[in-house]
Amino acid sequence: MAIPKLKTVAVVGATGAVGEVVLQLLAERNFPVGELRALASARSAGKTVMFAGREIEVQEATPEAFDGVDFAFFAATGSLSKTLAPEVAKRGGIAIDKSSTWRLDEQVPLVVPEINPEALEKHKGIVSCPNCTTIGFVMTLAPIRAIAGVKSVVVTTLQAVSGTGKPGIEELERQDGELLRGEALTTETYPRPIAQNVLPLCESFREDGYSTEEVKLLHETRKILEQPDIDVSMTCVRVPVPVGHSATMLVETETLLSPEAARAALDAFPGVEVVDDPSQNEFPTAYDVAGRDEVLVGRVRKDLGSDKLWMWQVSDNLRKGAATNAIQIAEEMIRRGLK
Ligand SMILES: NC(=O)c1ccc[n+]([C@@H]2O[C@H](COP(=O)([O-])OP(=O)(O)OC[C@H]3O[C@@H](n4cnc5c(N)ncnc54)[C@H](OP(=O)(O)O)[C@@H]3O)[C@@H](O)[C@H]2O)c1
Repeated sequence: MAIPKLKTVAVVGATGAVGEVVLQLLAERNFPVGELRALASARSAGKTVMFAGREIEVQEATPEAFDGVDFAFFAATGSLSKTLAPEVAKRGGIAIDKSSTWRLDEQVPLVVPEINPEALEKHKGIVSCPNCTTIGFVMTLAPIRAIAGVKSVVVTTLQAVSGTGKPGIEELERQDGELLRGEALTTETYPRPIAQNVLPLCESFREDGYSTEEVKLLHETRKILEQPDIDVSMTCVRVPVPVGHSATMLVETETLLSPEAARAALDAFPGVEVVDDPSQNEFPTAYDVAGRDEVLVGRVRKDLGSDKLWMWQVSDNLRKGAATNAIQIAEEMIRRGLK
């Protein structure tokens, strides 16, 4: 077996919630890392992060930090991706971006490797990863669409606080502590308390009353599935769960599809696992999926008033929703000889 050529890899946002998981998974998946550069803001320069049992010193993310880099995983801010991802491409490397900055850019592939890996062939040095909610959503739709087509979906998401990165995790932990001590709740990251509460708002509201997170589900799904006429109606909700996004989906197919056939197609799809036995109270939860790469699907059943199908889907927003998908993109590019 040929030994893969070792790559110079940069992780931008190495001190953040997603960056930490990227570092962990690069080691776990035996990604062929030669040199690893951990990058973050000037605030973190000189701190250390762990990679493969070693301490790596964090450097400030500057254009020069990408000299000689093969793959740069961006898990920082959208504005940083906007300025620095082109610097990676200019230097002959590939930027794999987790922010929303490049997702709808026509020149940039938006990729879930199980669904549209061929889009990578057209890359120009920047590849975008879908939003964490979109990934679990399209992973559930793709196998259904393959056998019955999909016309429309109504989806409500229940999104973990780690979807807002470390500030979201810290907000829930701090408010849980305040509740325990009988203190008034303080809010910094979300506009209302998240402890013992659910908020029908992820990110911020637009003028039309939708949240910025909600519209991503529609536009990213259309681009990944290359189906501009698919209808997605959505509400995104933040819940006091540390890790793992859940979603309930009502799917209208082109042709009649039984729950049994849907379950079989879902289970056969790479990266999806069906957990669905109501007689045994078996259904997937965020707690079950935290730390796993698969998208878990259950509660598959026919709608009582139509031929549509209901399903319930959970995925780890930091792994398949972010780090795993990004690393799979790099692995697929190596497999295709694109780097
Ligand atoms: N969390 C999720 O579930 C998830 C899922 C999909 C996509 N994403 C996307 O992934 C990205 C990272 O999210 P996160 O959840 O990991 O956030 P986070 O925990 O807040 O981490 C943010 C990271 O960005 C770095 N950073 C901030 N400003 C910077 C600057 N000016 N220059 C260099 N580095 C800077 C931070 O470094 P310092 O420590 O130095 O400040 C930190 O490492 C975001 O674009 C987010 O939208 C997140």
